[in-house]
Amino acid sequence: MKSIKIQLNENDIPRRWYNLAADLPTPMLPPLGPDGNPVSPDMLAPVFPMNLIEQEVSTDRWIDIPEEILNILYRWRPTPLRRAVYLEKHLKTPARIYYKDESVSPPGSHKPNTAVAQAWYNKQFGIKKLTTETGAGQWGSALAFACNLIGLECKVFMVRISFDQKPFRKMMMGTWGATCVASPSTETNAGRKILAEIPDTPGSLGMAISEAIEEAVTDPSGKTRYSLGSVLNHVLLHQTIIGLEAKKQLKIAGEKLPDIVIGCAGGGSNFAGLSFPFVADKINGADIKIIPVEPTACPTMTRAPFAYDFGDTACTTPLLAMHTLGHAFVPPPIHAGGLRYHGMAPLVCQAIVEGLLEPRAYHQLRSYEAAITWARTEGFIPAPETSQALAAVIEEAEKAKEEGKEKVILVNYSGHGLMDLLGYDAYLSGQLTDYELPEEELQKYTRDLENLPKAEMRKTGKW
Ligand SMILES: Cc1ncc(COP(=O)(O)O)c(C=O)c1O
Repeated sequence: MKSIKIQLNENDIPRRWYNLAADLPTPMLPPLGPDGNPVSPDMLAPVFPMNLIEQEVSTDRWIDIPEEILNILYRWRPTPLRRAVYLEKHLKTPARIYYKDESVSPPGSHKPNTAVAQAWYNKQFGIKKLTTETGAGQWGSALAFACNLIGLECKVFMVRISFDQKPFRKMMMGTWGATCVASPSTETNAGRKILAEIPDTPGSLGMAISEAIEEAVTDPSGKTRYSLGSVLNHVLLHQTIIGLEAKKQLKIAGEKLPDIVIGCAGGGSNFAGLSFPFVADKINGADIKIIPVEPTACPTMTRAPFAYDFGDTACTTPLLAMHTLGHAFVPPPIHAGGLRYHGMAPLVCQAIVEGLLEPRAYHQLRSYEAAITWARTEGFIPAPETSQALAAVIEEAEKAKEEGKEKVILVNYSGHGLMDLLGYDAYLSGQLTDYELPEEELQKYTRDLENLPKAEMRKTGKW
């Protein structure tokens, strides 16, 4: 039988991260400060350590991965590339479907790839404590895991609705020694202000980010920094180890380049991690369809304008040029908690503007249907976020069947769903519904963007 688990050993692990900023045909627009001028690295210093700020602004194509970081990643990396032969057979598709299995990390997703790197760089810089936000808890548990191994204190502000509905990730954070509080909380000015205005708010990532940043910058010792699990350039950079491994593994499997690359996108990090090394191939002439997938309930890439906006509800972050539903957007409580952010990574957005990516949105029920098909063929139970990507995989595999083409499809299996079974229960008992963001809501939340600097859509027109 042909190998369906393509493994690399420790010696094959990539030793450099890939930075798409070096190769984008049109450079990204800079982050802006409150005065409308580009922010300088110094202005970010109260929030992030300087070694990570250097990565954030770097346009070097390759950045070395420190040996000590690799030594931690070896616990689960390189991750397997698996061929979904059981799904292929079920769909009777001529497509060959490969999935990069990031669910094998201790916290169960791709998130520790950057959590470990960020904790390591903060430690090197003399930082003692990290604060962060988390939606459904994947990122919070990944940072808790990393801080424990590296010897940093960790405090996580978890979006209220998930804190109440998904207690298991909170318990994981506690197991790894972190503190987790529901956001909005009474522990910060930002949280108290939101609670005074909307006492029964389900919370949002934007609110939790405001709280986590406030807690970091107000520490009088100066030894606390903030850590973000997605969106920023350095986070996406750390995730490119996924795509670099996958490239080597596809070669071992006897494939050249994939025809189609797919990932779900909340803030953009797992999608970018898998796809950016292939975006580089596309820039250099390869014919690859690259699809970031999002829910119709939070249609950032498919319906929102490309504009300058804040990353958080309290407007404390620099302005980022991105597709955005507006910083005040409160997403509906869909189960893919990690896909409910109002913005999207500026690097991903610039690649969309350039025409290199083809974003797509699916309804919640469609993605659960895909997840059930996956679980009943491949066997693994995917995270609700990952299921969005699997809906696109099934659609593309069916299209390949109609066209009679042997397409190679590569997807990021960003996490397992074993902590998210309540969503499956709701789906199986018929309680889940679809939700499409109404146009009036989109207009309402994006109205504030008119008062912010405009983001020019620059592109070469080549794609
Ligand atoms: C399993 C999983 N996949 C995907 C995402 C989306 O995040 P990102 O777009 O940064 O990869 C999350 C976020 O929490 C997640 O937990």
